[in-house]
Amino acid sequence: MMEIPTRHLGGLAVSAQGLGCMGMSHGYGASDDDQSIATIRHALDLGVTLLDTADFYGSGHNEELIGKAVAGRRDEVVLATKFGFANRLGEPIEIRGDAAYVRQACDASLRRLGVDHIDLYYQHRVDPDVPIEETVGAMAELVAAGKVRHLGLSEAGVETVRRAHAVHPIAALQSEWSLWTRDLEEEVAPVCRELGIGLVPFSPLGRGFLTGRYTSVEGLPESDVRRTQPRFADGNLEQNLAIVEKLNELAAEKGVTAGQLALAWVQHRGDDVVPIPGTRRQKYLVENLGAVEVRLSVEELAAIDAAAPAGRVAGTRYDAGNLAFVGK
Ligand SMILES: NC(=O)c1ccc[n+]([C@@H]2O[C@H](COP(=O)([O-])OP(=O)(O)OC[C@H]3O[C@@H](n4cnc5c(N)ncnc54)[C@H](OP(=O)(O)O)[C@@H]3O)[C@@H](O)[C@H]2O)c1
Repeated sequence: MMEIPTRHLGGLAVSAQGLGCMGMSHGYGASDDDQSIATIRHALDLGVTLLDTADFYGSGHNEELIGKAVAGRRDEVVLATKFGFANRLGEPIEIRGDAAYVRQACDASLRRLGVDHIDLYYQHRVDPDVPIEETVGAMAELVAAGKVRHLGLSEAGVETVRRAHAVHPIAALQSEWSLWTRDLEEEVAPVCRELGIGLVPFSPLGRGFLTGRYTSVEGLPESDVRRTQPRFADGNLEQNLAIVEKLNELAAEKGVTAGQLALAWVQHRGDDVVPIPGTRRQKYLVENLGAVEVRLSVEELAAIDAAAPAGRVAGTRYDAGNLAFVGK
């Protein structure tokens, strides 16, 4: 069986690919808990150590699900969760990063996960009304109390990253990064590298789009968030399919799938990069892990880059309401 290499997020050792668990509770329609738990356990069997969740996902359901899946196997897992969205999915966004909320959110996550510590605790979105020093100061107290091992940020901008890191070392920045979302390449990634902060690309498959599985939103459940995302909107989706067409061609030449090529491209961004593709299914889990073994030459990387040239993707990655809180 393939051995998954180890990568480091700051001082935290993890498998080179993690498993995003959000879709098991949130965002992509109804799920089957038994199937999800089997997928998580299979991931551990295959050597995945990093599991990604958040208190927001399914309003606590996702953390409880993971708690069940890893019961008895705590030592095999690097548990990463997040706080910051005080609203439920579909409600107006309310971000909280005040110290009292950080403490309360952490205790609630520990309870739902059924563990005594979280390995990597992220602020999910930066609270515009609370200085980052207060938020990270409270997170640092959780480290001192033994409730949390490492700290992370998600969708933070460069200034926030620097100020946060000055309060307590930040192990990882989790932000959207894929062939069709390149926002952090110019400024944020170089600063993370300067500070020794690892990079965790979320939605590395472009919410599944880059696998070629979605050619229309027709079959998606009404509650699927992709129905509200501009890149999947009528007109944009058709244009974006040109990316998938090219990826499919390149993947066929290489003897891999389009999704594997998209993931391998992310993996090749650097040794400090640990993508967390999300799936509820063992079949896709195994396919996605196959990307770890795909080696791409400079020429191949350039050809993949050219499949989604900068500025050619139709539609923003989030709707306006969500865009207001990213990259801050
Ligand atoms: N920090 C943040 O703000 C943030 C935001 C979004 C996501 N995340 C994290 O990042 C993780 C991954 O992101 P994501 O789930 O949004 O997007 P993604 O990993 O780009 O794509 C997930 C979607 O692709 C499908 N899929 C996965 N592998 C596939 C394959 N090999 N072939 C065909 N379809 C495949 C999944 O379907 P099935 O589920 O049906 O298998 C799911 O619909 C999440 O689980 C979450 O932990 C973080």
